[in-house]
Amino acid sequence: MLHERRILVGVSGGIAAYKTVYLVRRLIEQGAEVRVMMTASALEFVGRQSFAAITGHHPATGLFGADSVSPHTELAQWAEAVVVAPATANTLAKAAHGISDDLVSTTLLATTAPMLFAPAMHTEMWENAATRRNVAALEADGHSMVGPASGTLAGGDTGPGRMAEPEEILQALDRLLAGRLSGIRVLVTAGGTREPIDPVRFVGNRSSGKMGFAIAQEAAACGADVTLVSSATRPAPTGVALIEVETAEEMAKSVAKLASEAEVVVMAAAVADFRPVDAAGTKLRRSEGIPELQLEPTPDILAGLAAMEQPPYLVGFAAETGSIDRAVEKARTKGVDVIVANDVTAEGSGFGSDTNQVALIDRRGTVDRWPLLSKREVARRLCDFLADQLQGRTGDG
Ligand SMILES: Cc1cc2nc3c(=O)[nH]c(=O)nc-3n(C[C@H](O)[C@H](O)[C@H](O)COP(=O)(O)O)c2cc1C
Repeated sequence: MLHERRILVGVSGGIAAYKTVYLVRRLIEQGAEVRVMMTASALEFVGRQSFAAITGHHPATGLFGADSVSPHTELAQWAEAVVVAPATANTLAKAAHGISDDLVSTTLLATTAPMLFAPAMHTEMWENAATRRNVAALEADGHSMVGPASGTLAGGDTGPGRMAEPEEILQALDRLLAGRLSGIRVLVTAGGTREPIDPVRFVGNRSSGKMGFAIAQEAAACGADVTLVSSATRPAPTGVALIEVETAEEMAKSVAKLASEAEVVVMAAAVADFRPVDAAGTKLRRSEGIPELQLEPTPDILAGLAAMEQPPYLVGFAAETGSIDRAVEKARTKGVDVIVANDVTAEGSGFGSDTNQVALIDRRGTVDRWPLLSKREVARRLCDFLADQLQGRTGDG
């Protein structure tokens, strides 16, 4: 996939820059055409000659006085993909804010090529609120991250902040360029539905929609044609068609209309199982006494999808409190291809959180437990999984 692709490697000033020499070497081995650009700080860690010898081109290091009159636009337009490794906290901050005060940051601002950042820094810098904001902003702008991993850092400390290994960066770059879900129509649902009691009150749940939005965003980044039916009010991710609904009934109708067009449906929404039988037309008043709420079942969207004559590849979600045994049962009986189960009461998992610990359960009940990851990383891995599954389907003929 990297063969004959034009890859621009940005190197910023972190100790992990020594690993980037090997990354560049591996890119060349894969047949990629590589150019390197370095910040002034990066030059303190590795010599320009190392990259020159491997790539056959002198790395670009400055805006002015170079052979080219406009090195930043030249590199920006040349690149099919840009990988910044290591990405320092400083370079991430500049990229997130559009600061362009040297060759690397100006090129990042000038390019329209997809960008992959491989952050590397001490744990405290990585966990600093400013870095968290900057990474979130870059991801929201559609850029990709790989790593950092947890492990031993320079100086002997351990924790998250270690740059992803070159092989992992290569794989991420492969995915970035491949558009692994290119041309695949993906329908995602997100958010908790709201079932009216009266015009101002509703029966709802704690779902924030973060997981479903992350899946939609990541699927779009992988080249899929994504429609998101959401009962959570959040801005539409780049490249995603957003349909806003409120109730389970509205979500069921939207999904029924769109599902036959989709190759994949991901039901990440927390759809209410019950709704009030008769929503009052006017606001219920305290003076009228305590209302008696009678509930009735809502449409079972997942069951409806599974019963289609030619169902799409179906991903269900199961929010459990405690054991995931019931999710295993759901995977076996609901007619879905895979269930993503999580214990919403576990630390770091569930509603509103930015992280999630999930298990993938297939139709046979086989459980694949994933570690605690950011919701974005769960979405990323789920898209990889879907790409593999769909390839298997096509391969089976
Ligand atoms: C020995 C040493 C190691 C450093 N390692 C890192 C690092 O891994 N990550 C990081 O964000 N900054 C690191 N820094 C700080 C950056 O070099 C510094 O913030 C610099 O301004 C980054 O500039 P640049 O982003 O333009 O390359 C290190 C500094 C020193 C002196």
